[in-house]
Amino acid sequence: MNRRVVSRRVVSGESGVGSGAHRNRQSAWRLVGGGVVLAYSLLTTPDSLLSQDAEAGKVIYDQWCAGCHGETGAGDGDAAAFMLPRPRDFRMAIYQIRTTASGELPTDSDMRRVIDNGMPGTTMPGWRDKLSGGERDDVIAYLKTFSRFFDGASPQAIDIGRQPGRPSDEDLAEARRLFADELQCVRCHGNQGRGDGTSAPTLTDDAGFPVRAADLAENWNFNGGGTVADIYMRMRTGLDGTPMPSNSDVIDAGIITDEQLWRVAQYVRSLSPDDPPARRDVVRAARFEGPLPSSPEDTLWENVEPYYIPMVGQITIKPRWFAPTVDGLWVRAAHNDETLTVKLTWNDASQSPDPEWDEFFQGVVQTMTDIDGPLPTQQGPDRIVVQFPVKAPEGTELPFFLGGDTRRPVYLWRWTSEPDRVEEGTATGLGTFLATGASEVTHTAVFSEGQWQLQFTRSLVPADSSIAATFVPGERLPIAFYAADGTDAEDATRGAISAWYAIYLDVPTPPRVFVAPIVAALFTVGLGLAIVWQAQRQQRKT
Ligand code: HEC
Ligand code: HEC
Repeated sequence: MNRRVVSRRVVSGESGVGSGAHRNRQSAWRLVGGGVVLAYSLLTTPDSLLSQDAEAGKVIYDQWCAGCHGETGAGDGDAAAFMLPRPRDFRMAIYQIRTTASGELPTDSDMRRVIDNGMPGTTMPGWRDKLSGGERDDVIAYLKTFSRFFDGASPQAIDIGRQPGRPSDEDLAEARRLFADELQCVRCHGNQGRGDGTSAPTLTDDAGFPVRAADLAENWNFNGGGTVADIYMRMRTGLDGTPMPSNSDVIDAGIITDEQLWRVAQYVRSLSPDDPPARRDVVRAARFEGPLPSSPEDTLWENVEPYYIPMVGQITIKPRWFAPTVDGLWVRAAHNDETLTVKLTWNDASQSPDPEWDEFFQGVVQTMTDIDGPLPTQQGPDRIVVQFPVKAPEGTELPFFLGGDTRRPVYLWRWTSEPDRVEEGTATGLGTFLATGASEVTHTAVFSEGQWQLQFTRSLVPADSSIAATFVPGERLPIAFYAADGTDAEDATRGAISAWYAIYLDVPTPPRVFVAPIVAALFTVGLGLAIVWQAQRQQRKT
């Protein structure tokens, strides 16, 4: 019986049609969500919200919001056609980020929070630094005028229990079981939470646009924030208008307890790193004395530090692409004075082309059809391009970051998933690839559970250094990346790019570096450290 409740919920969520707020709206008005509601939002509404001015809000809206959300609030501003997810249509009054029950309106504080912080992982920017607090409140008043549902409404935040303390290993194991079995999160989010569940290829939002089950390993991209409390609230109240369901009914039906849902939120949080990855400009290739890692899954990689490279849509050269799948690559590199090996890891729900994802692909093509000419008619491969200048630059002059230029060509490793191959070549601009006959680069690509691992290997010194970069230990060489997801209708120019970074091949550690840790250890043991601090403070004063 309990089971039935769960599966009905999931099935209606997947259909995308009638699952969201429209249908629930009217009944939700009358039944205020199962008796769990407190008169909370009235107590916590900031004073400023009491003096909202919708007319002043219109001026702000027309200037800052209408370009995406449209003058009439219909989500159809000039820029909207480039975006997926599309800007919200405010006439429907369907809001994702709420502390109110599923199908209800958001509180003013909920709207204020989204406007302050934006929705990470989408084009919705945060406005905290652009608009004053008063202006942000005024624009809320104006947003409400787009829908009559707000007339006289006073939405109430649901009452939630307190977050339990740190989970034990058993708590997390139990939460993992709920995630996989009772709550069936894996059906959309996949076994490892990377958005590759069996239902993922068919998900659409209430407007019929294809929507991805969020990658739960990237909490910094969660629309409503990445803390345990944020995750709990999204699971509790759902993301209205999307297939992401509310789990309040599961608690009300006694299938799981509130504390168990908190544990699931803690488990989901544990899928992401403790801190969002820091951007660092130099990827260090660790120096190995002996053999290098021979495959992407070689345990030798565990000793090599990963570097995170953020990726953004290629919007400089037509055809442009504003909504790429790949939003970051993890890069690891190692060398042994003869050979360089570079491993890239990134999450992508599909190994393109994959017939299971045809429906999703068609959805993207139909949605993005107006942008810069015709889209591919069928799924292409997944792609990675690794780019270096042919010649190490003198001074700060770098080739154009998109495939170089005629004066400063670039040297490329170009991989496709289907056929699974790497070509080596040069380019003098995006889309001008010139293959170098026999490729000296070898590679291995492994796809598993929504993740690619791709390893490139080449000798430091190429056969012909006039067309291929030379890697020199102890020196930096610029490096940049391109990534495309065939299932997302991406191709050789529609995809994600990085800025220029540098790769630095480590050299044998000079003796003084070995001495330093010993000295440091001695300091930490005694009063050494305190003495150093004091000396530093005095130095700073003078
Ligand atoms: C560059 C485009 C862009 C601009 C400019 C923009 N938005 Fe958005 N906004 C979006 C997108 C896209 C979404 C939907 C994201 C999603 O569905 O995940 C969104 C969603 C929202 C939501 C819905 C939040 C929810 O809980 O569902 C609100 C409220 C909002 N925007 C307010 C504003 C306001 C106010 C402004 C101007 C101050 C503004 N937006 C400007 C793109 C934009
Ligand atoms: C029917 C499919 C489906 C199921 C089942 C599902 N989700 Fe989701 N989930 C989604 C989709 C789709 C999104 C992305 C919605 C968007 O951003 O527009 C999402 C988003 C999320 C997010 C990101 C929230 C944010 O702020 O952006 C989290 C966290 C999450 N889901 C956790 C879970 C957990 C935990 C479960 C199981 C209790 C679960 N989901 C079950 C489809 C599902």
